[in-house]
Amino acid sequence: MVTVEKLSKSFGSHLVLDEVSLNVEEAENLVVFGRSGTGKSVLLKCMIRLMEPNKGSVKIFGKEVLHLKMDELNELRQQMGFLFQGAALYDSMSVRGNLEFPLIRHSNLTPKERELKIKDVLEKVSLEEAIDKMPADLSGGMKKRIGLARSIITEPKLMLYDEPTTGLDPITTKEISKLILDLQKELKMTSIIVTHDILCARIIADRAVVLEEGKIQYSGDIGELTSSRDPFLKNFFSDEIIKGNGRN
Ligand SMILES: Nc1ncnc2c1ncn2[C@@H]1O[C@H](COP(=O)(O)OP(=O)(O)OP(=O)(O)O)[C@@H](O)[C@H]1O
Ligand SMILES: [Mg+2]
Repeated sequence: MVTVEKLSKSFGSHLVLDEVSLNVEEAENLVVFGRSGTGKSVLLKCMIRLMEPNKGSVKIFGKEVLHLKMDELNELRQQMGFLFQGAALYDSMSVRGNLEFPLIRHSNLTPKERELKIKDVLEKVSLEEAIDKMPADLSGGMKKRIGLARSIITEPKLMLYDEPTTGLDPITTKEISKLILDLQKELKMTSIIVTHDILCARIIADRAVVLEEGKIQYSGDIGELTSSRDPFLKNFFSDEIIKGNGRN
């Protein structure tokens, strides 16, 4: 489904990604861990060329992303969903408007079909009652859930999540994580999830990798990684648990 090979990205003399390679199978949830500033967001952005990598290869649905022309790239992006760090809703539009927007752009549904889809996706994130609210009237967790609803409404085959549970309390973190898991099961969605949040990762990850010093240093089962005696991993996960408990 996704194959990244020897992907490198630097900003001036600062090498952020140093020949990163990773592989994601169809209908797999892959979690990418890493300390702050290690290049997790840069990795996701380079994969869909919101940032141009320096070299390497990214294959998505069998296509070499780095060679695509702009229109081909846009076509590919339409089959994908993104939930970026700090992604905002359109403040001047109601929840309905925010959710309708991607449907108008990327589907041929009639207004009636769109309305059904909006209600369906709101039910998935348990926010049916928010349909006529404006973003300013929603809590942080609710905004996050609407953001998630907006990114899955077109039923993408591949989802990229950057810190989907950042800033949420443990209960909402669990709800969002379970939702990501349900989507994988129901829609056979493949996901790459960047997170610091161990709780979230435990719920959703089929496999996890750790990005450190520009490379994928570890890969494995989440249980394996969190209980590893490797000094770096021990340190990483104990720090995340102390800081975390749902903080991210
Ligand atoms: N547009 C840019 N120009 C220059 N440097 C950048 C740019 N974007 C990111 N960087 C640098 O690349 C490094 C990785 O940034 P990135 O945002 O990917 O970190 P991250 O792992 O996502 O961190 P966090 O967990 O805090 O979100 C950082 O040192 C950052 O300063
Ligand atoms: Mg980031």
